[in-house]
Amino acid sequence: MNELYELVKHHAGLYYDEDSPEISDAEYDALVRELRQLEADYPQYARKDSPTQTVGGEVSSLFAKVEHSTPMLSLDNVFTPDELENFFSRNDAEGFVCEMKIDGLAVSLIYEDGIFVRGATRGNGRVGEDVTENLMLVDAVPKTLNDAPSGRVEVRGEVLMTWERFNAVNAAREAKGEKLFANPRNAAAGTLRQSAKNNHVISERGLDIFLYYLVDAEKFGVTTQSGALSWLAEHGLPVQTAYKVCDDIESVNEFVEKWHEERYNLGYVTDGVVVKVNDLTRWPEIGATSHAPRWAVAYKYPPEEARTRITDIVISVGRTGVLTPVAILEPVRLAGTQVSRAGLHNADEVARKDIRKGDIVNVRKAAEIIPEVVSVDKEARTGNEEVFAMPERCPACDSEIVKLPNETAYRCPNRASCPAQLTESLKYFASRDGMNIKGIGKSLAKHLTASGKIHKLSDIYTLTLDDFVEALSKDKVRTKSAENILAELEASKSRTLANLITALGITEVGKNTAELLTEHFGNIDALMNASEEDLAGIEGVGEVTARYVHEFFRNDDNRAMIEDFRAMGFRMGEAKIEAVSSDGGLAGKTFVFTGALETMTRDEAGDRVKALGGRVSSAVSKKTDYVVAGDKAGSKLKKAESLGVKTLTEAEFLEMTAT
Ligand code: IVH
Repeated sequence: MNELYELVKHHAGLYYDEDSPEISDAEYDALVRELRQLEADYPQYARKDSPTQTVGGEVSSLFAKVEHSTPMLSLDNVFTPDELENFFSRNDAEGFVCEMKIDGLAVSLIYEDGIFVRGATRGNGRVGEDVTENLMLVDAVPKTLNDAPSGRVEVRGEVLMTWERFNAVNAAREAKGEKLFANPRNAAAGTLRQSAKNNHVISERGLDIFLYYLVDAEKFGVTTQSGALSWLAEHGLPVQTAYKVCDDIESVNEFVEKWHEERYNLGYVTDGVVVKVNDLTRWPEIGATSHAPRWAVAYKYPPEEARTRITDIVISVGRTGVLTPVAILEPVRLAGTQVSRAGLHNADEVARKDIRKGDIVNVRKAAEIIPEVVSVDKEARTGNEEVFAMPERCPACDSEIVKLPNETAYRCPNRASCPAQLTESLKYFASRDGMNIKGIGKSLAKHLTASGKIHKLSDIYTLTLDDFVEALSKDKVRTKSAENILAELEASKSRTLANLITALGITEVGKNTAELLTEHFGNIDALMNASEEDLAGIEGVGEVTARYVHEFFRNDDNRAMIEDFRAMGFRMGEAKIEAVSSDGGLAGKTFVFTGALETMTRDEAGDRVKALGGRVSSAVSKKTDYVVAGDKAGSKLKKAESLGVKTLTEAEFLEMTAT
């Protein structure tokens, strides 16, 4: 039991606190279930601090549902001044309030007698998720109101992450080899919608909030939206400063115009202006559609574009050798950040848009951080522009580039020793889904590869303290010391086989496929020796992936590398875990086995029960549902009979659990 306590605690910590589980949810649940069972059977040994008392099956349904008092509506969007004109002609009101439209996550906060009691996301507008615990960890959310209004107050607004926090969070993730957040909105949502058990992660991310809506404002003697914003601010709730009461259409247009550029100085993402009828006593009469009020509208700014010159087109070589053209730009400010590169996807895309070195282009930020080239100003051409051609040799290792007939991609075939591929592979190897070695990000991976001491992935485990000290001295984003990294490497040797298979970076094989392969083969030798047909026959694998996996293990260097890992003490096999379903028909049913079974061991029989959602106990009690009696069943069978517990023969049990 003590061993299980430690194991469950360890894995719960990885899952909830560090966001980096090492075992599957099913494996974790199986450990917890085993511990619970032992605690039920031997309550005298159950510890009060047992992880079964604090963590549980919250893995998938993290949040309780809450119904909103009044629906949290969306807004209708308009994109041109003409469309905005329509809104004015519908609402010939005296005054409007213009506010910035914040690109965050809508939330509702409830205060009782001035004390924060509940927070919820918008959800589907009618029912949201209860994120009270998480919002408690956000400093920007006031936990008490100034001048505490008595009774219930509901306010609504937007949770967001500033650019400054976003850049810091992503820099830290990059250094740890973790996946970057695509934009501040994703980062804010990802932070708010995770288990509150990750309390330090949530508070350290430093979310912000702005409120813009006071529910039932008239109850507080408030009759205008501008009055509501003042009311919110007076009670200590954060309100944006960039808002204005506008008496006419002209001044609304001026506001829209003024903030088109100036919004980039606000430090957080805004994507438009919300125009609201200021007199909120008129809102009920103006009304709403099923999804948006008619008394407000969102004017959305067009995605920001910037004009600049392509000074060069370079090639980036990815982990699997795919060559991607990248435009190097004369640095230009775009949507709040300085950009100097734009992804060009592939050679076909460059040809289709006729993008040339030296061209003047318009660049735009899509949903992702990396900008893209929207259009080329062909009028501005001088004749000195250079048409792009994919190189014939790899810029990193000089191997001849190949293009497979059925692929758009050009590849460097030198998987074994191309330094660019090695850097990317190493970064991937160390990533969370791989061996989860914190501290080895892209930058350090590059320095390590450049040192010439790494020729294959397993070489990383042969480096010395001095090797890391030297590489780290060149790494500007280092977050770990050489000693820490050595400890991380050592710890990584006990990761699961699925981690190792993922970390190998076989084309098409990510975490999910690696788990399928592990489940199917159970150990690396069976996988290495599997035929292409065997592999393709596994549900969820497919022919293409099967070919890549097969090819990978036919390669002598790769096989030698697996032997390196084996010699270093890596896990090369897994105990087979049956698919676990919480309700396979036996949910809540407890079984006791007694005597010898003919067709299987008692452990196997127990696994069958667990796979169907049931529980196995070693002692018979009134709570036991079934006792399965094998050959030479003794006292437990007698006890079952005396307690009136249903008994089954092996054949009856097999029939009951046949799937
Ligand atoms: S007022 C009844 N004001 O934009 C609707 N919404 O695209 C009240 N948003 O769901 C919304 N900034 O989450 C309002 N200053 C602002 C806003 C704002 C951002 C969000 C809000 C809304 C979404 C619609």
